[in-house]
Amino acid sequence: MTSKPLDERILITGGAGYIGSVAAHILTSRGIEITVIDDCSTGHPDAVPSAARFIQASLDDREAIRTALIDCTAVIHFAGKSLVAESVTHPDLYRQSNVEGSRNLLEEMYLAGISRLVFSSSASTYGEPEMLPISESAPTRPANPYGETKLAVEGMITHEGNSRGMAAISLRYFNVAGAFAVVGGWIGERHNPETHLIPNVLQSSTENPVEIFGNDWPTPDGTCIRDYVHVVDLVEAHILALAKLMPSTHKIFNLGSGRGYSVREILQTASEVMGREIPHVEAGVRQGDPAVLVADISRAKSELTWAPTRNLKHMIEDSARAMGLL
Ligand code: UFG
Repeated sequence: MTSKPLDERILITGGAGYIGSVAAHILTSRGIEITVIDDCSTGHPDAVPSAARFIQASLDDREAIRTALIDCTAVIHFAGKSLVAESVTHPDLYRQSNVEGSRNLLEEMYLAGISRLVFSSSASTYGEPEMLPISESAPTRPANPYGETKLAVEGMITHEGNSRGMAAISLRYFNVAGAFAVVGGWIGERHNPETHLIPNVLQSSTENPVEIFGNDWPTPDGTCIRDYVHVVDLVEAHILALAKLMPSTHKIFNLGSGRGYSVREILQTASEVMGREIPHVEAGVRQGDPAVLVADISRAKSELTWAPTRNLKHMIEDSARAMGLL
């Protein structure tokens, strides 16, 4: 539920990607007008709702951003590269896409007189935490270039707030899973290649077993721990955030469930949901992975009046349905 009616047109950057397209569908299903800009380098044009105005272009293209911003009153900025391992092998791609793309967007927003922004940031801004759960005031020491680029964009947004009055909220996502049911199907995760744990676990087979990246981490069962949040709950937080934007203010909120699950616990829950064993092999660690990421979500609860409502089983079921496996 929104705390205030949204009589506006929202630009969704990255609206053909996983989280952006779910947001686009949820907003249009509530009668909110949207424009989507996405270069479809990882997104899919058919994931964009037909009610959206759709511009297929990258954030390198300032003229396309200018066109996309016409009639918009706010921006939800999802567009960007978001794979930890890829960022380690291709840091320049991440700097160009995430940092320079965002710089172009912020500049064009300023020129268009649009000052309201909700930004998709990431738990990877924290790096290896000193304390758990991680609160927004924890030190930010990213363990990979992906997290560095998200932190750099947050810094640029803070500057926009201080110097040009921007009203912004950055949402630091922990691990997102699940899907959104639409008429005739599901809007969910469709990456190629897929690197995320839950889809890899769900499509694991004897011929192609899911790899467990490291079994000697300093955790109770030796595998990494992450905090999973359902994509629909996540999108609800963006809608609440839009209603809480304040001029010259950049606020930061963690979005997770506040509970951590190890890689082995994910396999176990997926096995229960699917009613079968999940074939897996032990593999080496993946570069750039922190051992444990679990969110303190008390700030989002109190200030956004947000709370996740869908548990891990629900996320895995919806992911499996979207993949045609349930
Ligand atoms: N993992 C495996 N096998 C796989 C895939 C993943 O063991 O086939 C492990 C990873 O090592 C990690 C965990 O499962 O410990 C989760 O990995 P994901 O690739 O699903 O997600 P990440 O934690 O690497 O990253 C995700 C998003 C980032 C975001 C981060 C925040 O991709 O954008 O969550 O927690 F920043």
